[in-house]
Amino acid sequence: MPAQNTSRAPRELTVDDLRTRLEAHGQGHVLAHWDRLDAPGRDRLMAQLTRLEPELGGLVEAFRDAASQEAASEQIQPAAAIALPEHGGDPGEAEAARKHGERMLEEGRVGVFLVAGGQGTRLGFPHPKGCFPIGPVSDRSLFEIQAQKIRGIVRRTGRALPWYVMTSDATDAETREAFASHDCFGLPSEDVHIFQQDMVPAFDFDGRLILESPDRVFENPNGHGGALTALEGSGALDDMERRGIDTLFYYQVDNPLVRIADPTYLGFHALRGAEMSCKVVRKQDPMEKVGVVARVGDRVGIVEYTELRDEERHARDENDQLRYWAGSVAIHLLDTSFVRRVAADAYRLLPFHLSAKKIPFVGDDGQTNAPAEPNGYKLERFVFDALGEAREVCVVETTAAEEFFPVKNASGTDSAETARAALVAQYKRWLAAGDIDTPAGDIEIDHSIIDGPQDLEAAGIHDLTSAGDAIRIAGEGRG
Ligand code: UTP
Repeated sequence: MPAQNTSRAPRELTVDDLRTRLEAHGQGHVLAHWDRLDAPGRDRLMAQLTRLEPELGGLVEAFRDAASQEAASEQIQPAAAIALPEHGGDPGEAEAARKHGERMLEEGRVGVFLVAGGQGTRLGFPHPKGCFPIGPVSDRSLFEIQAQKIRGIVRRTGRALPWYVMTSDATDAETREAFASHDCFGLPSEDVHIFQQDMVPAFDFDGRLILESPDRVFENPNGHGGALTALEGSGALDDMERRGIDTLFYYQVDNPLVRIADPTYLGFHALRGAEMSCKVVRKQDPMEKVGVVARVGDRVGIVEYTELRDEERHARDENDQLRYWAGSVAIHLLDTSFVRRVAADAYRLLPFHLSAKKIPFVGDDGQTNAPAEPNGYKLERFVFDALGEAREVCVVETTAAEEFFPVKNASGTDSAETARAALVAQYKRWLAAGDIDTPAGDIEIDHSIIDGPQDLEAAGIHDLTSAGDAIRIAGEGRG
């Protein structure tokens, strides 16, 4: 933070001061409608521009850097990954990792970090995605199912497991309302921290800010990579430090199958001395649209689907398996000290990426227009860019069936329908493993009581009738 002169309140910027500063960055046009604004409109625009102005130089430069960036041409190699036992992984090592991870949870060293600031445009649900009803029988929301999982771990370990929930301007108010009206989904309110990520202005193709209305510059949430700066800026990292948390489990709101704070993953991360870790699933089809974890030069990184060259996409090893099989499922572990280091150097380590979008803009007549074609770039930071800074990265294999079915689209692949079917299939596998017969239709399990087949015995559940509300069955009126 810049040093402040405490003897006198700083002089408020006038519109002429602002105009001069904006023009220095080639952005004077955002005051084009000033003369027609009423007093509240002028106040709104002044407040926004006064907030944006100090960052503007850096942003314009970041935009130019991103716009002039050539596609990555570095050589890639497969990254070393810890495979599942069925793919050659060592079960003894996995068990040792699980025990270590359990200890980390019992010692209160772990925090759960949810990023829930995205606008969810593909899903088209007019509320935060976390409020989306996903429970196959109960219609419980994504937030509620995730909270059940946290409650289950707290019950098992007897230790608090704080939940840090990042929202954005687009999702904050409704998310807070959902948590308040559901009593923090059964978690102690002192263990739930909701905070916002920053917004970032978009630019047109010529690098000029876009006015979406006469009194407002268009801004969007700054991407899931903004999570790392938001952790620092919101004071969440300080809270973690006070609590003795040194490891963060990062996940995204749209995945109801996420295995929150998986002890085996935690253990591998810690025992391998990693600063950041990735969970991956084995790509079956070279055309699957998922980024792969690979060595890029001398670092581990994620090569996006669109950046993979054709020969790399189809390359196979001596066992006829895809060479670049390790698809990232956006479930990470991060050391809190590492997050601090990355956040302190965010312009370099978390560069902005540009994506061409249709951005509402104001015409000369002061009316807002919705363009038919992309007319500018949104800027976003990607959390996985931080991998390049990690001294050690641990890559751990899982299966999509057990851990990854995101709700991205309104229908088809990666939709609520596929995620619900995956949940039901998972519940049935758990019950089958406990020799419990299941009905043909949908069922739903309360994760705070049963979060895997190992919990059935402990919960004294030997059949569906002894399960009470822990297992709901479609059509039985308890949905
Ligand atoms: P996606 O990239 O899938 O974006 O986010 P989205 O907003 O959910 O959906 P679309 O692309 O608009 O359809 C993956 C995860 O990152 C979070 C989202 O909330 C989701 O959990 N995210 C994304 C943020 O928290 N902030 C952002 O700025 C972007």
